[in-house]
Amino acid sequence: MEKIQNKVFVTADEGAKFVASEIKSLILEKGKTNKPVILGLATGASPVALYKELVRLHEEEQLSFSNVITFNLDEYFPMSPNAIQSYHRFMNEHLFSKVDIKPENINIPSGMIDMEEISNFCLEYEQKIDDLGGIDIQVLGIGRTGHIGFNEPGSTSRSFTRLVTLDKKTRRDASKDFKTIASVPRKAVTMGVGTIFKAKRIFLMAWGEKKAEILAKAIESNITPLIPATFLQNHPEAVVIMDKAASQDLVRIKTPWLVGDCEWEEQLSLKAVCWLSDKLNKAVLKLTDEDYNEYGMGDLIAQMGSAYELNLEVFRHLRDTITGWPGGKPDTAGQKRPERAHPFPKRSLVLSPHPDDDVISMGGTFIRLIDQGHEVHVAYQTNGNMSVHDEDVLNRLSFTRQFMRKFNFETEHIDEFSSKLKGFFQTKDASSTELEDILEIKSLIRKREAQSAYRFCGVEDENAHFLDLPFYKTGKAEKLKVSKKDIQITKELLEEIKPHQVFVAGDKSDPHGTHKTCLDIFKQAFIELKEEGKDWVKDCWIWQYRGAWLEWPIDEIEMAIPLSPDEVAKKRTAIFNHESQKDGGVFPGDDSREFWQRAEDRNRNTAELYNKLGLPEYQAAEGFKRLYL
Ligand code: F6R
Repeated sequence: MEKIQNKVFVTADEGAKFVASEIKSLILEKGKTNKPVILGLATGASPVALYKELVRLHEEEQLSFSNVITFNLDEYFPMSPNAIQSYHRFMNEHLFSKVDIKPENINIPSGMIDMEEISNFCLEYEQKIDDLGGIDIQVLGIGRTGHIGFNEPGSTSRSFTRLVTLDKKTRRDASKDFKTIASVPRKAVTMGVGTIFKAKRIFLMAWGEKKAEILAKAIESNITPLIPATFLQNHPEAVVIMDKAASQDLVRIKTPWLVGDCEWEEQLSLKAVCWLSDKLNKAVLKLTDEDYNEYGMGDLIAQMGSAYELNLEVFRHLRDTITGWPGGKPDTAGQKRPERAHPFPKRSLVLSPHPDDDVISMGGTFIRLIDQGHEVHVAYQTNGNMSVHDEDVLNRLSFTRQFMRKFNFETEHIDEFSSKLKGFFQTKDASSTELEDILEIKSLIRKREAQSAYRFCGVEDENAHFLDLPFYKTGKAEKLKVSKKDIQITKELLEEIKPHQVFVAGDKSDPHGTHKTCLDIFKQAFIELKEEGKDWVKDCWIWQYRGAWLEWPIDEIEMAIPLSPDEVAKKRTAIFNHESQKDGGVFPGDDSREFWQRAEDRNRNTAELYNKLGLPEYQAAEGFKRLYL
């Protein structure tokens, strides 16, 4: 099924290190004969880890770039090289300013040329590559449209460097760097598919589950201009480098029973049975030997004895994941339930990366835990101030001033403060650094909203913790590296509460990676406490929920909390407290639905999936998966 060579690495860093080592070998080899190395480079999130590793090789292993000539794939048009979204600036920040490459050896398409000059410029760019003997190694990312460079669907295999129009989906993805989609340029200058194809070797790098769907298409479907990356199937030296998450939709990984023999472990058979039930639109208990044989699972049936035995086992497993008692049900010790009956009540801690993830992702479970008498704590890991609109700051400031005047409070200071902020907003553009005061106000807005939400759910004020982790506090989409401080703050909280169960966001992807970073910080803190021999850690269970973007695959859910229609409505009201996140968030990602709609669609979908597998029909359900550390 796979038509492009590919390598799957456990993490993106490992994949990037592999590509960096290939580049290093080439530089060393060509260095022996003093021949230049011609590299084709990409921008965006995918190559960041590669550039980091190349910089490390330069600094720690003295790898020299003095003999390297680079050609970048593309640049937005129009785009000043100094703008913060410009690819000129990106390359400088991530690579060129940190290695010893000669400025005259750097080539990046210009985003500033006059329209009449563009075709000449493109011809010359193409010619320059050819004159140097062609690109030795071309590095690529892949867009969710299947674009390579900015060759959007419809590009032909013989397209060369030219001005192109960006796809709507690409512009939506890029809006995270531009704040609004309207300010994303409509055009770009890009090397063509034909230009890329002339490279001697190509590494296409892709990380994370968001790339999984398009990667599977690029690698497995037939060549089509509708997915430009499929053209790489005809290149003899093109290799896709991906991490595990990005590989998850490949047939051999997603449905291995369709391509060969499998080692039928429990998790894999569960996955296969759920898949077959969905495929045939039949409840699990209705699947037959014939169904299994037809879809490559004959050996599984042989191992289990019969479809009847297997169906029953899977059905019982799924049934036992459903419970209305997320903190365990008292007096049921010995029964097969997702959570332990004892101790009861428990100390439960909900960790929420942003101030609204608690209610969006597990609002129903949150409310149940409180109603069932547990000591529920909630901790907001970051202040979430990046996703508050400037208008919200101005509106609240204006309200405060009017309120103060009405009740004859002294307004001199607030008037002064307010004109300072207004002046800033008037001159603010995408490259401005946010004022500290504005960030503070935005944090306050989010804190107030979180307070209303948790109070509505029934949490006591003394059980709400605002961690304000330092890694988040840059005022920019790009965050700081995790520091000891982040870990320490988290450890102190865990030590103070000594929870019996912790709920964490188990996401791998969100627009700026905050969920993933928050999870990493929690893991590190928990492991350190475990190593320090803290007693409570041994009895603490960790449940992962998923953020606003995705739900766990049904076969991975280990605890499903069903919600009644009333509970769904209550959860919605809790989410509504986050007013600043309604009516179009600052970073909506590629999903135009409001957060409460996403949550409801997803919880309804989970309930429907259970029902289709042959389990009871609930209004909605929230899914959790255990994490073992
Ligand atoms: C960048 C480029 C694009 C990106 C692609 C993926 O120079 O040409 O094709 O490689 O859009 O972007 P990221 O890596 O940000 O997901």
